[in-house]
Amino acid sequence: MDVVRRGAEAEIRRGTWKGRKVMVKSRVVKAYRHGSLDESLRASRTRNEARLMQEARRHGVPTPIIYDIDLVKAELVMEEIEGERVKDALIEAGEEEAEAVCREIGRLVALLHRAGIAHGDLTTSNMILREGRIWLIDFSLGGRNAELEEMGVDLHLLKEAFQSAHSERFRLFDVVLRSYSVHNPNAKLVLAKIKEIEGRGRYT
Ligand SMILES: Nc1ncnc2c1ncn2[C@@H]1O[C@H](COP(=O)(O)OP(=O)(O)OP(=O)(O)O)[C@@H](O)[C@H]1O
Ligand SMILES: [Mg+2]
Repeated sequence: MDVVRRGAEAEIRRGTWKGRKVMVKSRVVKAYRHGSLDESLRASRTRNEARLMQEARRHGVPTPIIYDIDLVKAELVMEEIEGERVKDALIEAGEEEAEAVCREIGRLVALLHRAGIAHGDLTTSNMILREGRIWLIDFSLGGRNAELEEMGVDLHLLKEAFQSAHSERFRLFDVVLRSYSVHNPNAKLVLAKIKEIEGRGRYT
């Protein structure tokens, strides 16, 4: 199987599952964590990620279909979304396309938050663009019954991602927020939360 990415926490590789082309995400063993703690952490993040991806898609947010889950190996088998990372797409896109992508990002985050789901690691690296549609991935740090605080943190992280990866087009983040506000009746409260988080200087 060919490894697509080996991160600090997880390894992503291409594989096949019942004749389908799939992506396999496994959480790597962390030697510095105590064995049984590490095991339960890997299992719970895997379970959390699968659950949130399924729940998000039930609420209209495109996410990869989960085919299989193995809590012992801390492994998810999922649909491969053959597209481009939104991070890269935004760098290459013309103005009009970039704005359309940002409107769609705002709409999807609004849908997610209206469903009470916080993503936990909302950056343009965790979004895939395919044929004009956006898929969200990497929900392992997300949560349900999200409070305003967690929604604010989502948007704050996204803002920082725009500031670092798309700094020359920082205006684009306003397009995200405008669309988010159109699609989330609670947006005012969340936007106020972002201000508060920024005022604090840190959010944990
Ligand atoms: N279902 C998928 N289809 C296509 N590409 C994927 C899929 N899942 C992951 N990838 C690719 O692998 C990269 C890493 O995946 P992911 O973001 O889930 O892991 P991670 O950031 O290493 O994990 P974590 O933050 O949970 O430790 C993604 O940025 C994306 O390029
Ligand atoms: Mg990621």
